[in-house]
Amino acid sequence: MIVSDYFASNGVFVFTSACKGEGKSTKVSSIGEDLCNIGKTVLLIDCDLRGSGYSEPLRGMFGYLYGGRRMETVIMPPRQFPVIYAGFPSRPLDRLFRIKDSKNRFASLIQDARQKYDYVLIDTSPLGVFDDALEIAEFSDGIVLIKDPDRPSGEADLRLAERLKMSPVPVIGTILNKKID
Ligand SMILES: Nc1ncnc2c1ncn2[C@@H]1O[C@H](COP(=O)(O)OP(=O)(O)O)[C@@H](O)[C@H]1O
Ligand SMILES: [Mg+2]
Repeated sequence: MIVSDYFASNGVFVFTSACKGEGKSTKVSSIGEDLCNIGKTVLLIDCDLRGSGYSEPLRGMFGYLYGGRRMETVIMPPRQFPVIYAGFPSRPLDRLFRIKDSKNRFASLIQDARQKYDYVLIDTSPLGVFDDALEIAEFSDGIVLIKDPDRPSGEADLRLAERLKMSPVPVIGTILNKKID
């Protein structure tokens, strides 16, 4: 599914796409399940603070980054693997790491998670719309793109390509996610 050997070794991986609704959250969960099924330990972090599929109010990443919550208190023990949900911003974000301390807090969370889990999978907002995934990718080993092949190309694809050019972190693969009803 992911055409790269990078993903065969443990690490921190960022999942993004050009647009909303291309299947990032769906795919990142199913990849987490696949990895668990082959005996890997997984932490899924929902870092889509722009509107997420599975947020919990005032908890999760938002509470950790901006509310001073401790890491242990935001990791939820769900069905197969632990998840840090996004949480809702109390006001719209301008930049993801708008306060310097939030970037440091994110860095220390990832450093800690690297020691504890084989795979850290980070769900993000669409990179064709927001540049959050680029800031997050700085702390990762690779970017995985999700693409809905039925979505017509547009402005967001150009912005995605422009932003990826600025990333020192490699794109390690693209998953085509064709939605079948
Ligand atoms: N392969 C698929 N087949 C059917 N429905 C899908 C598939 N991938 C995603 N969806 C649905 O499309 C919607 C958007 O997917 P989601 O994973 O939330 O996108 P994103 O996280 O990129 O915004 C959701 O309702 C999801 O259930
Ligand atoms: Mg999502």
